Amino acid sequence: MQIDLTGRTAVVTGGASNIGRGISLKLADAGAHVLIVDKDLEQAQRTASLRPGSISVKECDLSDLTQVQALGARLGAEGKADILVSNAGWVRSVNFIEKDLGEMDFELRLNLQAPLLLARLLVPGMAERGWGRIVSVASEAGRAGQRTQVAYSAAKAGILGMTRSLSHEVGRRGVTVNAVSPAMTIPESREEIGAGSMQQQRDRPPELMARIIKAYPMGRVGHPSDIAAAVTFLASEEASFITGQTLAVNGGFITT
Ligand SMILES: NC(=O)c1ccc[n+]([C@@H]2O[C@H](COP(=O)([O-])OP(=O)(O)OC[C@H]3O[C@@H](n4cnc5c(N)ncnc54)[C@H](O)[C@@H]3O)[C@@H](O)[C@H]2O)c1
Repeated sequence: MQIDLTGRTAVVTGGASNIGRGISLKLADAGAHVLIVDKDLEQAQRTASLRPGSISVKECDLSDLTQVQALGARLGAEGKADILVSNAGWVRSVNFIEKDLGEMDFELRLNLQAPLLLARLLVPGMAERGWGRIVSVASEAGRAGQRTQVAYSAAKAGILGMTRSLSHEVGRRGVTVNAVSPAMTIPESREEIGAGSMQQQRDRPPELMARIIKAYPMGRVGHPSDIAAAVTFLASEEASFITGQTLAVNGGFITT
């Protein structure tokens, strides 16, 4: 299927590294103009340089809701954001009873409140123009549960609630709202990750990876391009009758 997003503008949070980088490149290849919003300006610029003229970057710490509000208000006023991909996320795995309260609050702000706030500020313009796409990157942790990731899972499950509820409000205005839910997704090369990526701290020994892969019916974990393909499809015209849904892109790791 040839997806054509020519003339559309997409905002991709966390678009500098890994999954977000894959999404930014794929949307640009489909003809969209992409605005990467990321705290890691250096890596965002490296990613943008791969598609000259098609990707621009904006530095923003999405865990700081004052910055998110200012950015969302500006983008809303500009009236160009047709596609919002809320992808930026972060988790530190630790037993819930040991979880630092400040870190818990941080995870809720970045993984749930920032995507809600951006959607709230960008959806009115989409509705007014009669076309829009909200695609959020959730997590299988938010659907199935994951020990040591309680606050993160709560935030990701919240994203699914936002997706379902908002879809009911804006469908008649031409706006679809969907989520893509990855399981383990790792970059194929170090170039795909910058200083802001969680994957910097996640070098897994080959024996551990071999054990993990056994749980994946497709015989491998995910790559950013797998998630990017699903996001780009949901952002397309071809997906205009799909809304309120969560598409699990997990190699069969979870089948419900
Ligand atoms: N990789 C996985 O295995 C996996 C699995 C399930 C869900 N997810 C979800 O997919 C999304 C992307 O994950 P990833 O593995 O590519 O992450 P990553 O850590 O590799 O990259 C995240 C990107 O977001 C940016 N970012 C992080 N915190 C930010 C902040 N406060 N403000 C602005 N930008 C910030 C980083 O600079 C980076 O570019 C996340 O929402 C994550 O929860 C990932």
